[in-house]
Amino acid sequence: MAAGLGKRFKSKIPKVLHRIGGRPLIAHVLDAVGELHPARTLVVVGHGRDRVIEEIRGGGFEAEFVEQPELLGTGDAVLRCREVLSGYEGPVIVVNGDTPLLRGASLRRLLDEHLGAAADATLLTVILEDPTGYGRILRFSSGRFERIVEEADAGEEEAAIREVSTGIWCFNPEPLFRSLEKITPDNAQGEYYLPDAAHVIASDGGAVHTAMAEDPQEVAGVNDRLELAEAARALRLRTLERLASAGVTIEDPSTTYIDEGVEIGRDTVIRPLTFLKGDTAIGGGCVIGPSVDISDSVVGDEAEVIFAVVRSSKIGAKAKVGPFASLRPGTELAEGSKVGTFVETKEAKIGAHSKVPHLSYVGDAEIGADVNLGAGTITGNYDTETKKKSKTIVEDDAFTGSDTTLIAPVRLGKGAGTGAGSVVTKDVPPEEIVAGVPARPMRQRKPRVREDEEDAEGEAERD
Ligand code: UD1
Ligand code: CA
Repeated sequence: MAAGLGKRFKSKIPKVLHRIGGRPLIAHVLDAVGELHPARTLVVVGHGRDRVIEEIRGGGFEAEFVEQPELLGTGDAVLRCREVLSGYEGPVIVVNGDTPLLRGASLRRLLDEHLGAAADATLLTVILEDPTGYGRILRFSSGRFERIVEEADAGEEEAAIREVSTGIWCFNPEPLFRSLEKITPDNAQGEYYLPDAAHVIASDGGAVHTAMAEDPQEVAGVNDRLELAEAARALRLRTLERLASAGVTIEDPSTTYIDEGVEIGRDTVIRPLTFLKGDTAIGGGCVIGPSVDISDSVVGDEAEVIFAVVRSSKIGAKAKVGPFASLRPGTELAEGSKVGTFVETKEAKIGAHSKVPHLSYVGDAEIGADVNLGAGTITGNYDTETKKKSKTIVEDDAFTGSDTTLIAPVRLGKGAGTGAGSVVTKDVPPEEIVAGVPARPMRQRKPRVREDEEDAEGEAERD
């Protein structure tokens, strides 16, 4: 059921589309439902229907949508499904769209209990310290289920009952729809209550069975923004626990925010204040953080990222990023490369072992292997007159002096170089060094030793 307004959210966005762990509440519920491999999945939509349908389809779920034209209550929502389910005789599981922590295993247990007890209806109940907001379970002195009293209709004594309905049900369709025909909106909220159907089934001599939920947190409904934050926190801790048991060190769980689907390899250390979001995968043996925000990106083994923002990028194995780097979409750093302090990249490929250590902008660029871009090197990728963006190509083994501006489209040939402050407007042939504004030929580059033969001093200089 996902048609409700979510009054208590005071939002323009339908409640089930509010997000935790980067995904809408309803997506988490559909994950749990999907674990049962149901023959069919129906989603009752009403409030904000188009957006709800779009998000569910966008999330890759195969669901059928049933419209509830007027929000007359949960009983009415389920009754809307009668026609589409005509001819179907198997069990029907009904869940609220606002219980995002629900696990497939609990639904499986509910279904097993239902089938095992040969019940007409089975309800998952839970005992809460504070039952506020939930429907209370009324039982006969024999312990048999009598009915559910909603909070709004409960007298003082009933309100004190701590066993509540989770809103998670399994019904046989025939008694379900027969009883839904009989319920009335004769209650404090003027709504058709799904729980009343169970009362009708029980009064008509049907078997209403209950099963106790194992983890109260798992069945918690999210009815306002405080509960949203609590659910987000619980989901987050679940993810951190999963990663920690898989061999990831999380230095400070209280400041680490990792979306549910993120994968991280063994022996990676996640330092404080780290955010890993969306479709992100981190290799093993990495050090990520402190203060890193990565989304939709892949990070190779043994990479290090510190004080950085990374969006839709690839960071190769053993690469180093930061401190204070911004990798914008389309950045690809090859193995062992480095993007250092106050560097921004966008649509930029940086080759193996190449370095962009300080104060640079590299956009729409292909940088080869073993290149060193000096401090303050900027790609001028945007022509203000033509309003077009062009590419900068820097071939293997080239270098730029500090404060070089490369006006695209431009190419620095293999092994070419620039002097400090150069403004390069024309392609530079391989092995030639240019300098000046605009840069003009200066001299031929001296023969040099390969990097692996370089002494420690030479290495420091290139950094
Ligand atoms: C509901 C139950 C309550 C239970 C609690 C568990 C009813 C009347 N009450 O209360 O017994 O303890 O869940 O969390 O069922 N919806 C529709 N159409 C409607 C009304 C609601 O699709 O006309 C959907 C909502 O989008 C939501 C779900 O049904 O996903 C539950 O509605 P909500 O208003 O949150 O019910 P609760 O008051 O939490
Ligand atoms: Ca609810």
